[in-house]
Formats: sequence, C-alpha cells, structure tokens
Amino acid sequence: MADPILSVQSLNTHFFADEGTIRAVDGVSFDLYAGRTLGIVGESGCGKSVTARSILRIVERPGRIVSGSIILRRSNNTIVDLTTLPTDGAQMRAIRGGEIGLVFQEPMSSLSAFHTIGNQLQEAVLLHDPIGKKAARTKAIDLLAMVGIPRPSQRVDSYSFELSGGLRQRVMIAMALAAEPHILIADEPTTALDVTTQAQILDLIRRIQQERNLAVMLITHDMGVIAETADDVVVMYLGKEVERGPVDSTFHAPKHPYTRALLRSIPSVLAEPRARLATITGSIPHPFARPAGCPFNPRCPERMAVCETTVPLQYDVGHNQATACHLYAA
Ligand SMILES: Nc1ncnc2c1ncn2[C@@H]1O[C@H](COP(=O)(O)OP(=O)(O)OP(=O)(O)O)[C@@H](O)[C@H]1O
Ligand code: SF4
Ligand SMILES: [Mg+2]
Repeated sequence: MADPILSVQSLNTHFFADEGTIRAVDGVSFDLYAGRTLGIVGESGCGKSVTARSILRIVERPGRIVSGSIILRRSNNTIVDLTTLPTDGAQMRAIRGGEIGLVFQEPMSSLSAFHTIGNQLQEAVLLHDPIGKKAARTKAIDLLAMVGIPRPSQRVDSYSFELSGGLRQRVMIAMALAAEPHILIADEPTTALDVTTQAQILDLIRRIQQERNLAVMLITHDMGVIAETADDVVVMYLGKEVERGPVDSTFHAPKHPYTRALLRSIPSVLAEPRARLATITGSIPHPFARPAGCPFNPRCPERMAVCETTVPLQYDVGHNQATACHLYAA
C-alpha cells in the first residue's frame, strides 16, 4: 500500500477536570490512506469525537494532547506533526478545512441561519482559494450539484433552515469539500437522519470519496454503517483501541469480545439472519471509575484473572488484524 496521508501514533488526549483526569483518548494509533475509508466505532463516550478533534486541534479545555504524534503529509508533499503546531496558528488554520474537511452530526450547528448557503459556500471557497466572488459563486453551485442538491442554481440562494435535514447534511458535505481537502473526517454524519436519508448520505460520501480519491475517517456507533462504508475499522472502548483491521476479515472473524458483542447487536451484519439480537451486558463505566486491567473486563463474558490486573497489549492476530486482549497472548 502507498504511504499513509495521515498517521496517528500512540495518541493520548486527556481532560484535566477538578474531579480527576479523563483519559478520553488513551494510546490510539491508525493510518488514513487516499482512496480508503477508515471507520472508527464504539459506544458513546469511547473517545471517537475527541480523536477527531485532536487531529483538527480543536480539543476544548480542560483537554489537551498529552503525548503521541499526528503526522500529516501535506498537499505540497511536506510532512508535519500536527501536535507540534500552535492550535490557532496560520498553518493549522490552513490545514483545518483546507486539507482536512470536517462533517458533523448536526449541520445546524455549523451552518449559519443568517447567510444563504451560497454565501457560506463562497466564503469557504475563498478562504482557501482567492479566485474572486463570481468564480466562487459558480464553484458553490458546482459543489451543490456534486452533492446532489436539486436545482443548485436556485438553491444556492436559500437559507439552511429552508432545507430538509438530508439536504442540509449534503450542504455540510459541500462545505467540507469547498477547499478540496484530501482528507474528510465525518463524525456521525448520518446519526440524526432517518434510515432512508442515512443510506443516501452514506452513498454520497462513498461516491465522492471514489471520485476525489479522498482519505475518509468515518465515525459511528453503528457497525452496520461500518460494514457498508468502511475498508478498515478501529474499534474503541474507553479511549483505547481494542481491535483494528480490514473490515472484511474483522467482521468475518472478530477477535475482541467487545467487537463480537458490537457485531451481535447489529441485525444487518449477523451471520444468521434469524439469530437473536444481543445487547452488551452492563454499561460503560463513568470515566472517573475506569476499571483496572482490561477496561472491558467488568462486561466481558471471557474475563480471566489476569484481565482484572493487567492492561492487555496489542496482539497481531493475522490478516492485518490486531487486538488488545489477553486471550491472544502467545
Ligand atoms: N469538553 C470536555 N470536558 C470533559 N470531558 C470531555 C469533554 N469532551 C469529551 N469529554 C470526555 O471524553 C470522553 C470521550 O468523549 P467523546 O466525545 O470523544 O466520545 P464519543 O465516542 O465521541 O461518544 P459519542 O458516541 O457519544 O459521540 C468521554 O468520557 C467524555 O466525557
Ligand atoms: S483482556 Fe480479558 S476482559 Fe479484556 S476483552 Fe480480553 S478476555 Fe475480556
Ligand atoms: Mg462523538
């Protein structure tokens, strides 16, 4: 495979609250490649969004990147470690939006109600490429057409509140791609949408990814979305990467008990269509009450004595899969 366009290595991002420290991201490593989609999956609070925010250097106080590196191969082919850049310096501002596009779950929080979508798109285009107002408006219309907005030359003058949720999410994707980034980070881009619209938006992301050879990082709590959209997957639990590998082999032979539990809870990817849907026993512990040893041990049906005392290492389990679980210790 070609070199990764973005490489996250042993990333730790913690929140330092008065009550204690939350290890929101606790030693996560993965690579993004042009033309491939990496899915990041896990239940609520597992550190998916903080991972994305760390890459974009928009982690809020009292959080900060404690250690690790985020190596970006820039458009001009230079290499930079994003963790070393000032969060609001010129380089990071150019990278955010310019080289890494971002789509959130809730488009209303990112689209202004006071400006037409055309003006906002134009601004996003001009911020990274001063081609002049007229050309930027033409590009805004092209972007709307690309994301499948009907009658784009008329819709360009609408306000976001005049659009349905699905159309708004399409506009968000157009905004994220306005500056032609090589990387797209989508954080739960379809969670707020109905099932039919969800499928359409995922199709759109897939199509644009192929057309533009984008490296996509897709965050979701839904294994079904991963199955349909991603090439590779990272499964997170309490800030840790518990399993990673190509989607095909990982879904065919999941190794970590948490990955297996997540898969059993998704109807669309069950091996036997009529098997009963399982739920994962117990709930995620409060971040201040993190268990010793393997973080999943209180919920794990395969727990052993060592699991309660020792944090498992990552073990290579073949087929480019790796898992952090004592069951696979040599
Ligand atoms: N601003 C903050 N201050 C303190 N703790 C935070 C902050 N943002 C996130 N956290 C903590 O970091 C951990 C990871 O949160 P994160 O938002 O990354 O989870 P997530 O996997 O994206 O969950 P969800 O599926 O609900 O979006 C959680 O324990 C959360 O409480
Ligand atoms: S290390 Fe132990 S508790 Fe953790 S997932 Fe593996 S078997 Fe379960
Ligand atoms: Mg999140």
